Amino acid sequence: MERTTTIAGVRVRVAEARSAGARIGLVPTMGALHAGHLSLVERCRDLADLVVVSIFVNPTQFGPGEDLDAYPRDLEGDEAALRALGPAAPDVVFAPAVDEVYPRDPVTTVSVRGLDQVLCGVSRPTHFDGVTTVVTKLLNIVQPDVAVFGRKDFQQLTILRRMVADLDVPVELVGGPIVREPDGVAMSSRNRYLEGVDRTAARALSRALRAAVAAARAARAAGEVPSSGVLRDAATVRLRAEPGARIDYVEVLDPDTLAPPPDGADRWLVAVAAFVGPARLIDNVVVGERADEDALLAATDDR
Ligand code: PAJ
Repeated sequence: MERTTTIAGVRVRVAEARSAGARIGLVPTMGALHAGHLSLVERCRDLADLVVVSIFVNPTQFGPGEDLDAYPRDLEGDEAALRALGPAAPDVVFAPAVDEVYPRDPVTTVSVRGLDQVLCGVSRPTHFDGVTTVVTKLLNIVQPDVAVFGRKDFQQLTILRRMVADLDVPVELVGGPIVREPDGVAMSSRNRYLEGVDRTAARALSRALRAAVAAARAARAAGEVPSSGVLRDAATVRLRAEPGARIDYVEVLDPDTLAPPPDGADRWLVAVAAFVGPARLIDNVVVGERADEDALLAATDDR
C-alpha cells in the first residue's frame, strides 16, 4: 500500500496498472475510517485489480457553521486500519491537501437538480453540490472502472447514480450495505461526537426504522400493501419517544427517484435524520428489499 498526495502521482500509478490490463476501483472517503468504510474497500477489492482509496475532507460540502474544522482527521490511523485489511488492503491511498484539489476558487460546479432539494438537501442546501463536484473531480483524477459508495448515505448514492448517467461518466457505481455498531447505530465518523446519554439516544434512529419494517410486515401479514403513511407514522412515533433526539426529518420516498412513492410501489426508502447532542445523524432502510429489512432487524432490538 502506498500513499500519494498528488494528482500526478495517482494518475501515473493508475496508468501503469491500466496498461497492464488492470481493472481500477475507487473508494472515496473523508477519512476517520471505521468498519463501514472498510467494508466498501473489501467490496472494491473483489471488483477491481488496483484499488484506490481517497481520503479527503472536502471543504465545499460543509455549510457555514457545520463541522469542517472539528471533522476528525487521522491519516496515520486510517492507513493502519487499511493495512490491517491484509490481502484486501488497497494498493493506493490518495490523500491530497486542499490546495491540490482546489488550487484556485472553482467557478465550475456539478449539480444534480431536484434530487438535492429533499431529505438532507433541505437542511444542507449547498452540501450535495460540494459532493457531486468533488466526486466528479475524483472520478476524473482516478478514472476508475468501478467506484463503491455506502448505502448509509442513500441520497448521496442516488444523486451520484443520476449524475453518472446524465453525464455519461464511464464508471460503474456499486452500493454497499450499512454497517452498524453492535447496538444497531449506523457507523459514522460523527459518532465520535457522541458520549453517554447522547450515544444511547442515537439508537432511536435505527429503532424508528425497525418500527417501520415491523409495520410493513404487519401490513403484509394482514394481506395489505404497506402504505407510505403507515411506515412514516411508525418511524415518527418511535423517534419522537426519544427525548434526546430532535427530528430533522422522517420521510418515505421512492428509492430510485426520491419522489413520493407512486401508487402500487413495492419498495419504499424510509429515511430519518435527527440531531442528537452535538451531532446530526442519518439512517435509512429500503422496505420491500428483503435483504435490507433483514439486515436491519438482525442488527437492532426492540429497545
Ligand atoms: P464519508 O462520510 O467518509 O463516507 C465515505 C463512504 O463510506 C460513503 O460512500 C459512505 O456512504 C460510506 N459509509 C459511511 N458510513 C457507512 C456505514 N456505516 N456503512 C456503510 N458505508 C458507510 O460520503 C463521504 O465521505 C463524502 O461525501 C465523499 C463521497 C467522500 C465525497 O467527499
